[in-house]
Amino acid sequence: MSFSISLAVNGVARNVELDDPRVTLLDLLRERLDLPGTKKGCDRGQCGACTILVDGRRINACLALAVSHDGAAITTIEGLAHGDELHPVQAAFIAHDGFQCGFCTPGQIMSAVGLIGEGQAGDDPERIREGMSGNLCRCAAYAGITEAVLEAQRRLAAPER
Ligand code: FES
Ligand code: FES
Repeated sequence: MSFSISLAVNGVARNVELDDPRVTLLDLLRERLDLPGTKKGCDRGQCGACTILVDGRRINACLALAVSHDGAAITTIEGLAHGDELHPVQAAFIAHDGFQCGFCTPGQIMSAVGLIGEGQAGDDPERIREGMSGNLCRCAAYAGITEAVLEAQRRLAAPER
Protein backbone atom coordinates (compact mmCIF):
# COMPACT_ATOMS: atom_id res chain seq x y z
CA MET A 1 0.00 0.00 0.00
CA SER A 2 1.35 3.43 -0.82
CA PHE A 3 0.51 6.87 0.51
CA SER A 4 0.54 10.14 -1.35
CA ILE A 5 1.33 13.32 0.56
CA SER A 6 1.76 16.95 -0.43
CA LEU A 7 4.07 19.30 1.41
CA ALA A 8 5.27 22.86 0.95
CA VAL A 9 8.99 22.57 1.61
CA ASN A 10 10.81 25.90 1.80
CA GLY A 11 7.97 27.40 -0.21
CA VAL A 12 8.04 24.78 -2.96
CA ALA A 13 5.17 22.31 -3.43
CA ARG A 14 6.40 18.72 -3.22
CA ASN A 15 4.25 15.66 -3.85
CA VAL A 16 5.65 12.40 -2.54
CA GLU A 17 4.60 8.77 -2.81
CA LEU A 18 5.49 6.73 0.26
CA ASP A 19 5.42 2.96 0.27
CA ASP A 20 6.09 2.74 3.99
CA PRO A 21 4.02 4.64 6.59
CA ARG A 22 6.98 4.60 9.00
CA VAL A 23 9.09 7.05 6.97
CA THR A 24 10.02 10.02 9.13
CA LEU A 25 10.14 13.61 7.95
CA LEU A 26 13.88 13.50 8.59
CA ASP A 27 14.46 10.59 6.21
CA LEU A 28 12.05 12.05 3.68
CA LEU A 29 13.93 15.35 3.62
CA ARG A 30 17.40 13.82 3.49
CA GLU A 31 16.84 10.79 1.30
CA ARG A 32 13.91 11.65 -0.95
CA LEU A 33 13.92 15.43 -1.27
CA ASP A 34 17.70 15.97 -1.48
CA LEU A 35 17.80 18.27 1.55
CA PRO A 36 20.65 16.92 3.71
CA GLY A 37 21.07 20.12 5.75
CA THR A 38 18.83 18.69 8.47
CA LYS A 39 21.12 16.38 10.43
CA LYS A 40 20.55 12.95 11.89
CA GLY A 41 22.23 12.69 15.26
CA CYS A 42 20.52 10.31 17.67
CA ASP A 43 17.42 9.52 15.53
CA ARG A 44 15.42 9.21 18.75
CA GLY A 45 14.45 12.72 19.86
CA GLN A 46 17.34 13.38 22.20
CA CYS A 47 19.78 15.72 20.44
CA GLY A 48 17.83 18.28 18.40
CA ALA A 49 20.13 17.99 15.35
CA CYS A 50 17.07 17.30 13.18
CA THR A 51 15.05 20.37 14.23
CA ILE A 52 12.86 21.84 11.49
CA LEU A 53 9.84 24.13 11.47
CA VAL A 54 6.45 22.64 10.66
CA ASP A 55 3.79 25.30 10.17
CA GLY A 56 6.14 27.63 12.03
CA ARG A 57 6.65 25.40 15.06
CA ARG A 58 9.92 23.63 15.79
CA ILE A 59 9.87 19.87 15.96
CA ASN A 60 12.30 16.97 15.90
CA ALA A 61 11.98 15.61 12.37
CA CYS A 62 13.25 12.20 13.48
CA LEU A 63 10.14 11.71 15.61
CA ALA A 64 7.62 12.95 13.03
CA LEU A 65 5.98 10.56 10.59
CA ALA A 66 5.75 12.03 7.12
CA VAL A 67 2.24 10.60 6.54
CA SER A 68 0.98 12.57 9.54
CA HIS A 69 2.02 15.86 7.97
CA ASP A 70 0.14 15.86 4.67
CA GLY A 71 -0.45 19.49 3.70
CA ALA A 72 2.13 20.91 6.12
CA ALA A 73 4.46 23.83 5.42
CA ILE A 74 8.02 22.84 6.27
CA THR A 75 11.05 25.04 6.65
CA THR A 76 14.54 23.58 6.78
CA ILE A 77 17.95 25.20 7.10
CA GLU A 78 18.13 25.33 3.29
CA GLY A 79 15.09 27.62 3.23
CA LEU A 80 16.31 30.39 5.56
CA ALA A 81 18.63 32.50 3.43
CA HIS A 82 17.42 34.70 0.60
CA GLY A 83 19.97 34.06 -2.11
CA ASP A 84 23.30 35.24 -0.71
CA GLU A 85 21.63 37.10 2.14
CA LEU A 86 21.76 35.06 5.32
CA HIS A 87 18.88 34.93 7.76
CA PRO A 88 19.66 37.11 10.82
CA VAL A 89 20.02 33.99 12.99
CA GLN A 90 22.53 32.48 10.56
CA ALA A 91 24.50 35.74 10.46
CA ALA A 92 24.51 35.94 14.26
CA PHE A 93 25.86 32.39 14.61
CA ILE A 94 28.79 33.36 12.39
CA ALA A 95 29.37 36.67 14.18
CA HIS A 96 29.42 35.01 17.61
CA ASP A 97 31.22 31.75 16.75
CA GLY A 98 28.11 29.76 17.61
CA PHE A 99 29.62 26.55 16.28
CA GLN A 100 32.78 24.49 16.02
CA CYS A 101 32.36 21.27 13.99
CA GLY A 102 28.97 22.51 12.77
CA PHE A 103 27.09 19.22 13.00
CA CYS A 104 24.49 20.52 15.45
CA THR A 105 24.32 23.96 13.83
CA PRO A 106 21.37 23.53 11.43
CA GLY A 107 19.26 22.23 14.30
CA GLN A 108 20.47 24.97 16.63
CA ILE A 109 19.63 27.65 14.08
CA MET A 110 16.18 26.22 13.28
CA SER A 111 15.45 25.93 16.98
CA ALA A 112 16.54 29.54 17.53
CA VAL A 113 14.32 30.73 14.68
CA GLY A 114 11.42 28.83 16.26
CA LEU A 115 12.18 30.14 19.74
CA ILE A 116 12.30 33.74 18.54
CA GLY A 117 9.12 33.20 16.54
CA GLU A 118 7.39 31.91 19.67
CA GLY A 119 8.27 35.19 21.38
CA GLN A 120 10.03 33.15 24.05
CA ALA A 121 13.61 34.32 23.60
CA GLY A 122 13.49 37.68 25.38
CA ASP A 123 16.81 39.20 26.38
CA ASP A 124 17.57 36.93 29.31
CA PRO A 125 20.42 34.48 28.56
CA GLU A 126 19.02 32.01 31.07
CA ARG A 127 15.69 31.91 29.25
CA ILE A 128 17.46 31.40 25.98
CA ARG A 129 19.52 28.55 27.41
CA GLU A 130 16.33 26.94 28.68
CA GLY A 131 14.53 27.48 25.37
CA MET A 132 17.45 25.94 23.48
CA SER A 133 17.99 23.08 25.93
CA GLY A 134 16.64 20.46 23.50
CA ASN A 135 19.59 21.11 21.19
CA LEU A 136 22.80 19.46 22.30
CA CYS A 137 26.27 20.45 21.12
CA ARG A 138 29.08 17.96 21.54
CA CYS A 139 31.60 20.75 20.96
CA ALA A 140 30.02 22.76 23.81
CA ALA A 141 29.74 25.94 21.77
CA TYR A 142 26.94 27.00 24.10
CA ALA A 143 28.32 30.44 25.03
CA GLY A 144 28.47 31.52 21.39
CA ILE A 145 25.09 29.98 20.65
CA THR A 146 23.43 31.93 23.46
CA GLU A 147 25.12 35.17 22.34
CA ALA A 148 24.01 34.54 18.77
CA VAL A 149 20.39 33.94 19.73
CA LEU A 150 20.43 37.06 21.92
CA GLU A 151 21.71 39.21 19.10
CA ALA A 152 19.37 37.73 16.50
CA GLN A 153 16.38 38.20 18.77
CA ARG A 154 17.34 41.87 19.36
CA ARG A 155 17.73 42.40 15.65
CA LEU A 156 14.46 40.71 14.73
CA ALA A 157 12.58 42.51 17.51
CA ALA A 158 13.84 45.94 16.38
CA PRO A 159 11.34 47.90 14.27
CA GLU A 160 12.11 48.07 10.55
CA ARG A 161 13.70 51.34 9.48
FE1 FES B 1 16.32 13.90 15.99
FE2 FES B 1 18.49 13.62 17.49
S1 FES B 1 18.25 13.21 15.37
S2 FES B 1 16.57 14.52 18.04
FE1 FES C 1 30.02 20.52 17.01
FE2 FES C 1 27.81 21.60 18.04
S1 FES C 1 29.37 22.60 16.89
S2 FES C 1 28.31 19.51 17.88
